[in-house]
Amino acid sequence: MKDREVFCLNNISRVGTGKFRKGYTLVDTIDTAAAVLVRSADMKEMQFPKTLRAIGRAGAGVNNIPLDRCAEEGIVVFNTPGANANAVKELVIAGLMLASRDVVGGADWIKANADDPDIKKTAEKAKKQFAGNEIKGKTLGVIGLGAIGRTVAEIAHNGFGMEVAGYDMFLSPAIPDYVRILPSAEDVLKEADVVTLHVPATPETENMIRRETLQLMKPSAILVNCARGALVNEADLAEALRDGVILAAGTDVFTNDIPSADNPLLTAVNMTVSPHYASFTAESNEMMEMMAAEAVDAVLKGGAPKFPVNSPKL
Ligand code: 3PG
Repeated sequence: MKDREVFCLNNISRVGTGKFRKGYTLVDTIDTAAAVLVRSADMKEMQFPKTLRAIGRAGAGVNNIPLDRCAEEGIVVFNTPGANANAVKELVIAGLMLASRDVVGGADWIKANADDPDIKKTAEKAKKQFAGNEIKGKTLGVIGLGAIGRTVAEIAHNGFGMEVAGYDMFLSPAIPDYVRILPSAEDVLKEADVVTLHVPATPETENMIRRETLQLMKPSAILVNCARGALVNEADLAEALRDGVILAAGTDVFTNDIPSADNPLLTAVNMTVSPHYASFTAESNEMMEMMAAEAVDAVLKGGAPKFPVNSPKL
């Protein structure tokens, strides 16, 4: 059926595409598609055919999709909030741990000194610089308390005995009582020992971490960004790490999705980096693809998506 043509703009596994059975065709171009399934391919400059009714984003961030133009053209866009929350949470915690105990510094030291016949003695002195501090009892600052921010808060509080302070523009009843809500993101930066970012990239959040806001943080603070590169001014963060304005940072995201060799964060001190794979686990990919495909199926059958992110004019 023509009105059941689905185009996968990114690679979507059988777990997702398997949702399209009777009456559906998976097509190779967008030209006559009724729906598109997408991960993070950039759709902002794409032209959409008149046949297109739905765009399902397998993932959370929708900054790759022109939401307003889609709404004007009658195309409903939806995403899969929560589907990748566990995967992202696990990498946030890894980033926090790597930074708080300087795991990379310790590993580099032991490799560089493996030939030292006196390593036992030298290690006694050297390891002090990597040992770090425990996170129990420290304050985790969560900026953005959606599905991912809340699950990070939960493990930090219930699993590691951290205090949690947070900020969100939209306060939901799902935010647990143990999260102390602060009036602004700046207040979180001032109070927290570890700050984790979980807001989308929008004109309001872009560059929220920059020289002036980094100055608000404690010199012992750790920053973790598994959200979007655009939230952080990379040169300012590298400078803050060099000058001891904050202690350490971890990022899974960059202003260019995968950074070029001259990206300042690649050579910044006390910085761990990863290639935007926080939500790229097998489990999370399957969940995102399945949820997006189910929603596409519902919309093409005349229903409403569970998680719309725009409001098309009918
Ligand atoms: C998201 O927004 O869901 C994550 O950043 C994952 O994005 P990806 O589809 O580029 O892996």
